[in-house]
Formats: sequence, C-alpha cells, structure tokens
Amino acid sequence: MMKQLRNQSKHKIIVIIVFIAGIIISVESCKVSQKVASKSGAQLWSENCQHCHNTPDPTSFSGDQWETIGMHMQTRALITESERNKIVEFLKQSVQ
Ligand code: HEC
Repeated sequence: MMKQLRNQSKHKIIVIIVFIAGIIISVESCKVSQKVASKSGAQLWSENCQHCHNTPDPTSFSGDQWETIGMHMQTRALITESERNKIVEFLKQSVQ
C-alpha cells in the first residue's frame, strides 16, 4: 500500500516536470519567432545572403525568379521558411 503511494507521487512529479519543461520550451520558441518577426525582409536579406557571394541587386531578377532563387538559397543560407518568405517578399517588392 505504502509502496504504491510512493510510486504514484513519483509519477506525479515526472508529469509536473514534463509539463513545466513544455511551458519553458514553448516560451523559448515564441521568443525566437518574435526575434524573426521583428526583422524586416531587407534586414534578413543583408544578414543572410552575403556570406557566399555579393548580394545581388533586387532588380536583377523577376518576382518568379526570386521565388525560385529563394527556395535554392534557403537551403544554402540555412534560414527558416518564414525568413525566406520575408526575404523573397522584400526582393519582389523592389522589382516593381
Ligand atoms: C552558403 C552559401 C550561400 C548563401 C548563404 C546564399 N547563397 Fe546565393 N548562391 C550560392 C552559390 C554557390 C550560387 C551559385 C550556384 C547556384 O546558383 O546554385 C548562388 C547563386 C545565387 C544567385 C544567382 C542565381 C542565378 O540563377 O544566377 C542569387 C540571385 C542568389 N544566390 C541569391 C541569394 C540570396 C537571396 C540569399 C539569401 C537568402 C543567398 N543567395 C544566400 C551560395 C549561397
């Protein structure tokens, strides 16, 4: 009887720890996305796109071409999809 009780309270502690860890993780990932959200496409573009080559002029490609280039360069620059979308949006705006 006593042993069973002790096991149950151990189990509760583990559940609580997992729950707290979940909260911490979700708060952390929220912070990261806020950091990304606060950056403009132009900022992300200048920070991520010139490690390997000079940053090409936004007017050098059409909107469709920027979509394709964005997909290729996302894997090269190791950026997230939302970062890529912002960069591509910025580049397409500059074309018009
Ligand atoms: C890790 C290196 C690396 C990073 C970071 C990188 N690129 Fe590139 N990029 C390349 C290489 C290599 C090429 C040439 C080969 C190719 O087209 O795949 C290239 C080519 C290009 C071209 C020419 C494509 C063409 O068809 O002529 C453009 C435009 C371009 N990159 C834009 C970007 C943008 C925008 C970013 C940021 C999101 C970026 N690159 C980040 C390596 C990189």
